[in-house]
Amino acid sequence: MAHGTWKRWHCLVATVASILLLSNSVLPFNLETRQLLDKQGPQGSYFGYSVAGHTQRAGRAAGNVTNWMLVGAPLGQNLQPGSTRSGALFRCPVSLDSNDCTQVITDGHRTDDIDDEDGTGDSDNLYEQRLEPPGKDEIKNNQWLGVTVETGGQENKIFVCAHRYIKINNPQSLAYPASGPGSTGLYLGQGVCYVLNEDFSFGFAVEVCRGRSIEREHQQYAFCQSGTSGAVLPDGTALIGTPGAMTWKGTLFNVAIEGGFLSRDKFQYFAPHDNLHSPVPNYSYLGMSVTGGRFFGEYMAYAGGAPRAAQGNGEVVIFSNRYKKNPFDHVVSLRGEQFGSGFGSTLASADINGDG
Ligand SMILES: *[C@@H]1O[C@H](CO)[C@@H](O)[C@H](O)[C@H]1NC(C)=O
Ligand SMILES: *[C@@H]1O[C@H](CO)[C@@H](O)[C@H](O)[C@H]1NC(C)=O
Repeated sequence: MAHGTWKRWHCLVATVASILLLSNSVLPFNLETRQLLDKQGPQGSYFGYSVAGHTQRAGRAAGNVTNWMLVGAPLGQNLQPGSTRSGALFRCPVSLDSNDCTQVITDGHRTDDIDDEDGTGDSDNLYEQRLEPPGKDEIKNNQWLGVTVETGGQENKIFVCAHRYIKINNPQSLAYPASGPGSTGLYLGQGVCYVLNEDFSFGFAVEVCRGRSIEREHQQYAFCQSGTSGAVLPDGTALIGTPGAMTWKGTLFNVAIEGGFLSRDKFQYFAPHDNLHSPVPNYSYLGMSVTGGRFFGEYMAYAGGAPRAAQGNGEVVIFSNRYKKNPFDHVVSLRGEQFGSGFGSTLASADINGDG
């Protein structure tokens, strides 16, 4: 197959997969199943690398609901000025038109830490906002924004990540000499995720490895690549895979993403991942995939894929956050049986006890 054909095929498969997912969920989709949606994005952008179904409840009282398909294009050209192919997020109406996707603003707000609490969030005004170029201490080219796109919870927040986002650390504070071309700082490949509100207005950034120890670089949190995988869970939290933490053992973080800035739990829960207590050895890449749910009862449980664990056979590691503490508890690890099979590379949660 020609390269271009393959790409389109890839996107089609992703679309079909998302339709299958959607028709299985509670979203009020009503599609003619014999017709396929084939949305197209910019060439070479990896449009369709990730997809998620999103429900926007415009006037909740009026029961006015708009359904969208969110599509990640990690090599796409972001709307942020001063960045090149840093990745883009698109929203596509659920229609048979193949050219009606538009880009959602993700990067370029004056400060990524702002929290839009006034609730005005009129998405039509988003495109009138002035976007700032990346800061001097960050590298967004090749950051892969859109590698992970998820939505869900009570508030239908949108969670989108760029696992290759780089922050350049202040060289003065470092014991190690400079690394990376053209800069005197240490390049921190920690990744970033953004929370957008249901109406696509910007919420806030989530950087679970920021501010953690980096003196021993990759042996700690300097190359976490957080957001390589992610999931929005029914309890209003996001589960974030960070396969590059602690000499690529990898780990999982869980943070609240719903509620207002003041009421939201700022605590970052994590799986055990130090040299003594990690359930996986170095170079396991735990967090390449994640999912979560109330697998065992009323409390939240998480699963993370570690494709290089178990001597390369791969492992799925299950945790429980029953006691809301750090680190949360390792419950069990499931092993793959074939070397190099990548067991644990993708995960999906099923409704095991049928309670929705
Ligand atoms: C429902 O939402 C659509 C799109 O957001 C809008 O055009 C329409 O006016 C809304 N209808 C009502 C009754 O609010
Ligand atoms: C794993 O990496 C750490 C450094 O982060 C090192 O101290 C430790 O010895 C390594 N473990 C093994 C079993 O090689």
